[in-house]
Amino acid sequence: MAKLGLTAMAVVVVAMALALVAMAAQLTRAEADDPKKVDKWFNRLSHAERKTTRLHFYFHDTISGKSLTAVRIAEATMTKKSPTLFGVVNMMDDPLTEGPKAESPLVGRAQGFYGSARLESLSLLMTMNLIFTSPKYNGSTLSIMGHNPAYETYREMPIVGGTGFFRLASGIAMAKTYFLNLTTFDAVVEYNVIVTHY
Ligand SMILES: *[C@@H]1O[C@H](CO)[C@@H](O)[C@H](O)[C@H]1NC(C)=O
Ligand SMILES: *[C@@H]1O[C@H](CO)[C@@H](O)[C@H](O)[C@H]1NC(C)=O
Repeated sequence: MAKLGLTAMAVVVVAMALALVAMAAQLTRAEADDPKKVDKWFNRLSHAERKTTRLHFYFHDTISGKSLTAVRIAEATMTKKSPTLFGVVNMMDDPLTEGPKAESPLVGRAQGFYGSARLESLSLLMTMNLIFTSPKYNGSTLSIMGHNPAYETYREMPIVGGTGFFRLASGIAMAKTYFLNLTTFDAVVEYNVIVTHY
């Protein structure tokens, strides 16, 4: 009798554990098609724990040639005379790849704009969305708004939010120039991103 009771209890415990695992799995899924599902997702948040995800990829900013991915959309009267091209703004749709080579597998795109925001030395204001297309994160996004002193070796920018897999994300993106063409200023930048999210 007592043994049966224990078995029943074990079954209940296992079932509860499975239900929790299923709930956690659901929390990670992108359900952007239905506001009601997103609402449910928010209601379950009190049971959820924050997870940490690390991403590594290369960002290709091509501003010259025929297949450019970033284009100048604005400048000021003084921009051309400024040593930092102060006031210039470029809109980008830059590919993000697994490895540093242009033909390396695509994992997403960086869409948004960056502008020269400092008078004395080059420093960019980056305002961009990372839109992932790799199988695990397909359709999910992370938003960056940060200070990018592009000639420094290490730049750290805040991740201010996310969608899909990365809902309520916060974290940092660390950028390091991998390659810079000093004639065209085309660049390949290595990104390490750490985010916490539900
Ligand atoms: C990503 O999602 C899009 C749109 O839903 C789909 O067409 C594409 O095949 C997906 N790609 C991968 C790698 O899952
Ligand atoms: C930089 O770009 C120019 C113009 O496209 C090209 O001729 C040159 O080979 C490039 N330099 C490097 C180091 O890739």
